[in-house]
Amino acid sequence: MLRLDKLLSHMGFGSRTQVKELIKKGRVHLDGAVCRDAAADTDGHTVSVNGKPLEIKTAFHLMLHKPSGVVTAADDPKQKTVMDLLPPKYRSSGCMPVGRLDKDTTGLLVLTTDGELAHRLISPKRHIQKIYEVNTRDDLKQEDVAAFEKGIPLKDFTALPAELSIVESRFARVTVFEGKYHQVKRMFIACGNEVQKLHRATFGPLQLDETLLPGTFRELTEEEVGMLYRAAGLEETK
Ligand code: URA
Repeated sequence: MLRLDKLLSHMGFGSRTQVKELIKKGRVHLDGAVCRDAAADTDGHTVSVNGKPLEIKTAFHLMLHKPSGVVTAADDPKQKTVMDLLPPKYRSSGCMPVGRLDKDTTGLLVLTTDGELAHRLISPKRHIQKIYEVNTRDDLKQEDVAAFEKGIPLKDFTALPAELSIVESRFARVTVFEGKYHQVKRMFIACGNEVQKLHRATFGPLQLDETLLPGTFRELTEEEVGMLYRAAGLEETK
């Protein structure tokens, strides 16, 4: 059940008080008839404001440029989360982050309302490719490239073969096909080095939109949504 006033305020028509006023004035129609009841249920009904029907979207797929200093969680009692960066319309839509980035990691984070899509994209079976840009404490070595390619043994598992491409003495691009806890940082520690900055540039078929400033997001285009569903082994876009 989604109340009319809540729906309108989430869709950007103003505060609860402002939308109640709009409703009182008879500017809102429910299934073609004027509706003056702010508490009316909108589920399955058509709503129009000032004669214009609302396009009520229930499925969202977003790309967020995650800044450093926010946690990837649906909510947290103490810390700012990635959900706090979204307007109420998306926060209340059931959008969830797909996988997680550490608090100090920046870059591409996908959020979706489609639980099955999210589940498939983070499934260890699917080996979704991610590219990270990494600044390291010490100089990178050719032997690190070989170690990444072979698969680095960590305490609880051996990482799948990954690609380390050294761009500068302390800057590299790393391509991984899994996403275990602190994985990239742990792989560098295993090589005797340390990650100082970590930024995710790609997630599966998606690239971080360069026009998105840290902390901002946009909806995925239809084409991007299609690519994401195909990467997840799902043909139907929702
Ligand atoms: N690997 C890490 O160590 N941290 C991240 O946030 C992502 C990948």
